[in-house]
Amino acid sequence: MAKKLIAQRSEFQRTLLAWYRVHARDLPWRDQPSLYKTVVSEFMLQQTQVITVLPYLARWLAELPNFAALAAAPESRVLKLWEGLGYYSRARNLHRLAAQVAAWPEMRRTPAAWRELPGVGPYTSAAITSISFGAPAACVDGNVVRILARLTADATEFRDSATASKTFTSLAEALLPTDTPGDHNQAMMELGATVCFRHNPLCLTCPVREFCAAARRGEPEAFPRLAAKKIEQRAVTRVWCERPGALLLHRAAAGARRFANIHELPTPEQVGLDPAKVTCGELLAKKRRSITRFQITESIYVTPTPRGKLPAELVWVRLTELESLTLSGPHRRWVAEIAAKLTR
Ligand code: ADE
Repeated sequence: MAKKLIAQRSEFQRTLLAWYRVHARDLPWRDQPSLYKTVVSEFMLQQTQVITVLPYLARWLAELPNFAALAAAPESRVLKLWEGLGYYSRARNLHRLAAQVAAWPEMRRTPAAWRELPGVGPYTSAAITSISFGAPAACVDGNVVRILARLTADATEFRDSATASKTFTSLAEALLPTDTPGDHNQAMMELGATVCFRHNPLCLTCPVREFCAAARRGEPEAFPRLAAKKIEQRAVTRVWCERPGALLLHRAAAGARRFANIHELPTPEQVGLDPAKVTCGELLAKKRRSITRFQITESIYVTPTPRGKLPAELVWVRLTELESLTLSGPHRRWVAEIAAKLTR
């Protein structure tokens, strides 16, 4: 089926592009595009949906309007602006990238050059360089895999989405027009986000239905075939330790693999308490969060103030100053909810 589609590629490209020109959503990185806006939005969009990204991007661009401003900003400010988007290594990588790009004597325009920068993989380098410089690089993510697997009714079972992306890269490249690669890539993204949904795709109004083998068979949802993701359950205990007007938080060390410089409620071990004893205390809340393939249940218990000198990673934070710190998104919400309940 891929051969047939490749044989029809000019027609496919024209049809897709004509649809995109009429139906593209009005998004801030499309309106008066700039390299900087494209880079920041692509980083934010790596694991986050467009609708969530929009307010973050607006605040970011207002405060850090270019690479030089971003490079000069303190990391605490960068993390604060990212608070709630999650996967904070993206923010740290973007910060480091800005310093490197601002120092380039002249702009680099190839996917290979951009892939040397922190946080830039095949997808992001293709997106940035095709959109900003017209580089002939195809973007392949889950949305594009879904579209291509359906167009070709490819029944291969893929181990995971990374393997599927690699497999479909050559087809994505074969379909890429050399004159408008950026618009074509964005048109594919747009089709995936607004028409070719994972469930209940809008085949009746799909602009490229005539090219789609899965639609012809009436079974678009059968493609792509991906092995079920293994979700692992984890349980974590957290402590709520308060003294008048202040709450004890844990700030992960600057070099931590995850959550560096980000505040969360501490675990019993972090405050030197025995978890078995903590869980005999008052349970304030039981909450769930997902991080990559882990579904984590966090149980928050009231504990008395620990004695002795606290390690540097534990900080007493005045409740009135919570807003100025960076908390992980879930902990920000949970702390606000619990504090409101306790002061009521
Ligand atoms: N997802 C990732 N990049 C995107 C873009 N440029 N437009 C819409 N959705 C996207």
